Amino acid sequence: MMMTTRKTTVSIVAKRTTNPIRDVVDRMTVQPNPDKKLIPLSIGDPTTFGNLNTPTVFMDALCKAARDPSTHGYQNSVGTPAARRAVAKHYSTPTAPLTENDVIMASGCSGALELAFKALVDEGDNVLAPCPGFALYRTIVEGIGGTCKTYPLIPELDWQADLQKMKAMADSRTKAIVVNNPSNPCGSVYSKEHLIDILKVAQELGIPVIADEIYRGLTFSGAVFHAMADLTADVPVISVGGIAKEYLVPGFRVGWILINDRHNLFANLRGALVSLSQVILGPNSLVLSALPSIMDPEPASAEDLALIAFRKHTVSTLEKNALFVTDRLSGIEGLQVIVPQGAMYVMVGINPSAGFDFKNDMDFCERLLSEESVFCLPGTCFDIPNYFRVVFCAPDEILEEACDRLKAFCARHRAGTAVASN
Ligand SMILES: Cc1ncc(COP(=O)(O)O)c(C=O)c1O
Repeated sequence: MMMTTRKTTVSIVAKRTTNPIRDVVDRMTVQPNPDKKLIPLSIGDPTTFGNLNTPTVFMDALCKAARDPSTHGYQNSVGTPAARRAVAKHYSTPTAPLTENDVIMASGCSGALELAFKALVDEGDNVLAPCPGFALYRTIVEGIGGTCKTYPLIPELDWQADLQKMKAMADSRTKAIVVNNPSNPCGSVYSKEHLIDILKVAQELGIPVIADEIYRGLTFSGAVFHAMADLTADVPVISVGGIAKEYLVPGFRVGWILINDRHNLFANLRGALVSLSQVILGPNSLVLSALPSIMDPEPASAEDLALIAFRKHTVSTLEKNALFVTDRLSGIEGLQVIVPQGAMYVMVGINPSAGFDFKNDMDFCERLLSEESVFCLPGTCFDIPNYFRVVFCAPDEILEEACDRLKAFCARHRAGTAVASN
């Protein structure tokens, strides 16, 4: 009997799942200028240029794990006890103590976010998330049938959240406030006072905070990171993080959820997170096995000292790069730089009254790529037009070349100075 093949239909979840960055970038059909070497300042991967590397301590621990067959099997779906203990110890503070039971390991911080949203959000629910903000919040929440309502961040106030608007957009179906500090794409680091004000809103609304703190170890002079869990005894905080950025290994795909819940309001949530973690069975076993080497080294050991030096070097390199890019781009007429205080990103405003001949930020980034082979992401990727985001992880000479090209590009495209592109 002949089989008739039916046309495959895709699921509603698949249809609803779109990554705004991919949507925008895929619409950019232009190619880099073949005469100029491509400078990709678009993706938040600190390993792109090979100048920033994970510490040897970690690589050695990973090689050791690879040679030990006892680490090769399935692990507990929420992570090995040793890895969870090491993470708990690393992030525990007297005001927000953690035990291994408060740590759920996941496949990257993305996996941690997915677990957190899936545990909280039903169809028709919503979460409040920052704008501009990391696109994955919307991807996950809308994929599962929720809505991502965005509260504005105010550039003139170093990207502080507009608390009035945040409060006004909440309703009975609002399940959480997402706070990303330090921020992708803004590079902002919030003061303790501002974080406390956000916590007050969460308390008034009676909802938890999902604190995306993946850049917590990357703050520059004068900016101090405060963990949200440290600032409240009452609001439950689900803090998500991972090793991708701080330890320069985004490909390792290990992240975590830290559950901070002093009044046991999350009793159900813990069970939900465990059930959800059982779908994938946790992140890969080798990295889990190596994790204590970086999270919990013997104090004052050679490894500990090497890690301290590594962190200092990473942050000072990023800070130097941030200062350089800020300084160079601020000098370009028509661009407005909002000085970053951490992470690896700076948002640059394109002044609409500067006389540029660009239609919008997409057009700016497309022409920058096709004429100068410098690739930055348009603000539209983060829900904010008239900006572009620069990743400043590249080595000095590449950043310098990128800034030179941006300067020439902007000069060429301002009123009266436009010439045909080469
Ligand atoms: C704010 C933010 N959260 C989460 C992630 C995801 O991290 P991971 O690579 O560990 O999944 C990123 C990655 O760029 C990010 O910028």
